[in-house]
Amino acid sequence: MRRIYSQPPRARRLPVTVLGATGLVGQRVIALLEGHPWLELAHGVASERRVGARYGEVVRWQVETPPPAAALDLRLEAPEPSGDLRGQIVISALPADEARTLEPRYAQAGALVFSNASAYRMDADVPLIVPEINPDHLAALAIQREKRGWPGAIITNPNCSTIGLTLALAPLQRFGLKRVLVTTFQAASGAGYPGVASLDLIDNVVPYIAGEEEKIETETRKILGGWAGKRFTPLDADATRISATCARVPVRDGHLEAVSVEFARRPQPAEIITAWREFSAEPQRLGLPSAPQPAIVYRDEPNRPQPIADRLTGDGMAVTIGRLRPCDVLDDKFFALSHNTIRGAAGAALLNVELAVAQGRAG
Ligand SMILES: NC(=O)c1ccc[n+]([C@@H]2O[C@H](COP(=O)([O-])OP(=O)(O)OC[C@H]3O[C@@H](n4cnc5c(N)ncnc54)[C@H](OP(=O)(O)O)[C@@H]3O)[C@@H](O)[C@H]2O)c1
Repeated sequence: MRRIYSQPPRARRLPVTVLGATGLVGQRVIALLEGHPWLELAHGVASERRVGARYGEVVRWQVETPPPAAALDLRLEAPEPSGDLRGQIVISALPADEARTLEPRYAQAGALVFSNASAYRMDADVPLIVPEINPDHLAALAIQREKRGWPGAIITNPNCSTIGLTLALAPLQRFGLKRVLVTTFQAASGAGYPGVASLDLIDNVVPYIAGEEEKIETETRKILGGWAGKRFTPLDADATRISATCARVPVRDGHLEAVSVEFARRPQPAEIITAWREFSAEPQRLGLPSAPQPAIVYRDEPNRPQPIADRLTGDGMAVTIGRLRPCDVLDDKFFALSHNTIRGAAGAALLNVELAVAQGRAG
């Protein structure tokens, strides 16, 4: 899918450096930058073994549409910041261990690092942003700069399953979330390239994804929680109990989640569906280029959402929800689906960049 942006291009587009440019998320970032009205691909960085290589020759391209012409001749650069990067935009699609070492170096050099990696998501001074839910958490950047003494910053987006879950839950917070049970059916591409060995996944379901259940439980509390001026105030773990079970399934793209919720005040089904359908937030109001309009699509058919049919809803940026029905144990249950490398990663990072630009924090 080639993204067509409806906004007119700005006279001066902001250069973007992509770390992990050859990986699945990096490829998506590069595909989404093609024709972006505010941003343009300037530098691609991969591991040391790629330094100097032509992007088009080394990348194992996995996006449905061909690589943008601007990327093919890009010479891959070393994973080390050079010079003064003050104000530069860096999108990191590095594995967590590499992100832990490298992202601070870029922030130290002055760059605004928008990270897909888990390394810093839960740090007390690092915003973990879903722009529709907690754009105010970007205020933590002042504390981060003061504490770490760097001119740049690290801004993170959540784990790919957390994004779909939090977008589905955010409009329901008004009813009070007491207990949330979520079981995920996660696509193969969520494990990166080459990811899970094909013989482990074809004709199979793998009921374990390292660290994933803990990420969903903790990140959801941070995102749905508040910002109290100097610190995050995550949802109280006793007031809102969250339990996740994660499985890898032989689907290419798109994470499906079965969710059951208990409310403090149980709404009528119609109220829940209206809350989803009317959900509109800061990115939609600001008209950010990657903002889905609407952010949530509720489908009435009894057999939706499905990865193949629904993952590209809203250019892969919307969450599709369906099958709302009563739950005999908690109150209500439903399915939610989101595209893991677009809404769950590359598109999420781009939306965070756009939010920062719109708030005057970047560019
Ligand atoms: N896949 C998803 O759905 C998804 C969703 C949300 C978040 N994430 C997170 O996003 C990040 C990237 O995921 P992915 O799926 O794109 O992984 P991936 O396909 O394995 O790609 C990893 C990228 O990092 C580069 N890299 C590896 N070691 C490096 C090093 N020492 N120095 C510099 N670059 C290095 C690789 O370059 P080479 O080609 O040179 O090896 C490649 O470009 C991970 O932190 C992941 O957890 C992924």
